[in-house]
Amino acid sequence: MTWLVTGGAGYIGAHVVRAMVEAGHGVVVLDDLSTGDVARLPADVPLVVGSTLDRPLLGTVLREHAVVGVLHVAAKKQVGESVEQPLRYYRENVEGLRVVLEAAVDAGVGRFLLSSSAAVYGMPDVDLVTEDTPCRPISPYGETKLAGEWLVRATGRAAGMGTVSLRYFNVAGAAAPELADPGAFNLVPMVFERLDAGEPPRVFGDDYPTPDGTCIRDYIHVADIASAHVAAVRRLTERPDSTDLVLNIGRGEGVSVHEMLAVIGEVTGLDTTPVVTPRRAGDPARVVASAERIAQELGWKARFGVAEMVSSAWSGWRRQHPAQS
Ligand code: WQD
Repeated sequence: MTWLVTGGAGYIGAHVVRAMVEAGHGVVVLDDLSTGDVARLPADVPLVVGSTLDRPLLGTVLREHAVVGVLHVAAKKQVGESVEQPLRYYRENVEGLRVVLEAAVDAGVGRFLLSSSAAVYGMPDVDLVTEDTPCRPISPYGETKLAGEWLVRATGRAAGMGTVSLRYFNVAGAAAPELADPGAFNLVPMVFERLDAGEPPRVFGDDYPTPDGTCIRDYIHVADIASAHVAAVRRLTERPDSTDLVLNIGRGEGVSVHEMLAVIGEVTGLDTTPVVTPRRAGDPARVVASAERIAQELGWKARFGVAEMVSSAWSGWRRQHPAQS
């Protein structure tokens, strides 16, 4: 019973692979290694280096490994870059997905999971975002994820394929230092980068309508993201015919930028007193998940808190950026 994990050598994909293997599932990875790294994969997991746009290759992988389900994690994920390069984002995130889906249908694969994102909601004006909150993405990245969900749902219904789309909120942390996110495109690693450079962290605006004036997010440990995939795989295995789900993965708890900086200060022992800069374009004041539906549907709940996210991310950062002194 082998599952294909596309993007399995990436930051989130490698966590999914590890959790799948630990849960006893067979796994094969397809990754183009554009941001992925072979070193993140367990030695006994086969890696096929190639693109999700390569239809013949996908057919071969699905057939040769007798794949029963696909976890489609491969994607471009930088919001700013998607504004500059929308054609590339639609090609890789929507056309890449379409090709993988087509190969899966042709190979008779009956289970499909898509990595989606809270970016589909845009600027939600509710305290807790449920899966029924209107989706109004404000970036090409968010649009590609929403279009992807539609494609997955329509294909699943037409082909009798069980489907799940998981909307990740703000992912942080690492299950092991060698699995940490090597990029610095999100709050936690961006703060680490500033601290390493001897510069104060930046707060992008402290005049939001929130209790301390800074933006509130729902941070979720990447190990919890991975365990949610394993829970979804269980559901897709037991009841593929009745599985047609879109689910938030969050903790249901809001944390402000100031609160995050305080935790980073405690974990690192460094001074995280920030400088306040103007607001960054497109940042919603508050995005916090309702995690009710995933609890009901999959019996899944996050285990880790913000301190564990920050301390594990810090161990990974230190491994990649050894202290100079
Ligand atoms: C978090 C908060 C910043 C850096 C993005 C994408 C989203 C998803 C996850 C998906 C914001 C503030 C940040 C800094 C700061 N991507 N901040 N100083 O923007 O919530 O979500 O990543 O794959 O779609 O939009 O995450 O980590 O960039 O920012 O004050 O140095 O931290 O303004 O309020 P964001 P983030």
